[in-house]
Amino acid sequence: MLKHFIIMLQNNYNLNIIIRMCVYKYTKTWFTHSELRYHLVNFLDKSKENNILEIGCYEGLTSVFLADNFINSKKSSLTCVDPFLHIDNNDHRQLLLNGEEFNFDYNISNCKNTDKITIYKITSDNFFENNNKIYNFIYIDGCREPDFLKRDMENSFKFLEKNGIMWMDDYYDGGNGDSKRVIDDFLEKYIGYYIVIHKGYQLAIRKL
Ligand SMILES: C[S@@+](CC[C@H](N)C(=O)[O-])C[C@H]1O[C@@H](n2cnc3c(N)ncnc32)[C@H](O)[C@@H]1O
Repeated sequence: MLKHFIIMLQNNYNLNIIIRMCVYKYTKTWFTHSELRYHLVNFLDKSKENNILEIGCYEGLTSVFLADNFINSKKSSLTCVDPFLHIDNNDHRQLLLNGEEFNFDYNISNCKNTDKITIYKITSDNFFENNNKIYNFIYIDGCREPDFLKRDMENSFKFLEKNGIMWMDDYYDGGNGDSKRVIDDFLEKYIGYYIVIHKGYQLAIRKL
């Protein structure tokens, strides 16, 4: 009876995520109300090969969610890019002064599929300069400066496979709307080359 109960819990997608959250170290709970957490399962097949790129990882809560749920198939991979405080001008500097990089390292070492994760502690610009891998899912959640976000979107779209998904955070950020403006400009420029699959606080497109 207890065994069946445990199996039922493990098979329940949302419960499983909540249980896994107890394993990890974190100070910010952004991930718990991220639209990605609730909707990605409708767009990305967990049983297929997924090659995922995350730009901007912070404490790695989204990284471990992706690793625990979407890279179980043999050839799948997750690539994490975040310079943390190894650069001087990180726009998230104030949010990184209390061991968040340590939490990231801890969480990545303790998630499922840790051997399928590659970490680059460099800026996304430097990462893309040397990248030649194609991804079928890219989550953009790095530097918020408009020029950086614009380059992240352009570079990501280039390395996104046909039918691949690009998911952006902070579409409606409740602030000065810079991110929304940059994302809308991108949508305008590439009209006809994608379809919008999710629009809310975050925005996601599928490449045609
Ligand atoms: C909002 S946090 C990411 C949150 C994370 N995706 C999550 O869901 O928990 C933004 C991250 O972007 C990183 N970042 C800042 N500048 C960057 C850059 N040029 N390239 C890549 N990441 C950058 C910061 O170090 C910070 O950890």
